[in-house]
Amino acid sequence: WNLAATEVYGRPSTSLTDFIELTESDLNNETYKAGYHASHCMIYALNNDRIFATYKARANILMQMRFDGYIGFPGGLVDKGESPLEALNRELKEEINMNPKYQVKPSDLICTHWSESKKIILHFYALQVDKEDVIDIEKTALTSHDYGVEVLGTVRVPLYTMGDGFRGFPCFLTHSFIGNARTQLITALTKLNIMSTEEINAALNARPVPVK
Ligand code: GTP
Ligand code: MN
Ligand code: MN
Ligand code: MN
Ligand code: MN
Ligand code: MN
Repeated sequence: WNLAATEVYGRPSTSLTDFIELTESDLNNETYKAGYHASHCMIYALNNDRIFATYKARANILMQMRFDGYIGFPGGLVDKGESPLEALNRELKEEINMNPKYQVKPSDLICTHWSESKKIILHFYALQVDKEDVIDIEKTALTSHDYGVEVLGTVRVPLYTMGDGFRGFPCFLTHSFIGNARTQLITALTKLNIMSTEEINAALNARPVPVK
């Protein structure tokens, strides 16, 4: 996905417009070694239900409204002495008070990006849970330390496209996302086989129906 220079309808990609995908071996490169790190995570459950008895739900995916008005994933900066995963599990406690019985593990890694302008390495994970666990995590999130301050609420991502070809997932993609969170979302959707490349491209190219 090269959304770096691409304007998705409605809103441009946000602050990090210069990120590139890194491989594991890139992380030994001196440039990247000197960078900051952040880790974020998509918590999700597969869901075969129909929404309004019509649209396939596909999955329940959690994102959050941030203090700055952007939509992103829970997670944050890696502090001194932490590994990216340790930082992620700590931030999940701070931001959504996630029960430690849910633990993100190394094999949950989806992708890693580098932002040249911010000199930051962005690690992105996906944690699969059961459908009932999503509700549990959403409820517990209201009791987190950061709730109401850093985090203004958990949101689910609509993954269907409605009859007008725009409402639903295409409309959701037009929000303003922090960093490369929109790219992270669509990368996870394809890597986890939740949505095809064709469907995602159609959603990115969709436009609202003009009001007459
Ligand atoms: P503090 O507790 O205030 O330090 O914030 P934090 O540690 O929770 O950091 P935050 O989640 O804001 O992430 C740090 C940086 O990573 C931000 O400045 C963004 O540029 C970037 N970032 C934040 N959320 C996301 C996200 O969902 N995806 C990506 N790719 N980057 C993000
Ligand atoms: Mn209603
Ligand atoms: Mn935080
Ligand atoms: Mn954060
Ligand atoms: Mn932090
Ligand atoms: Mn904080």
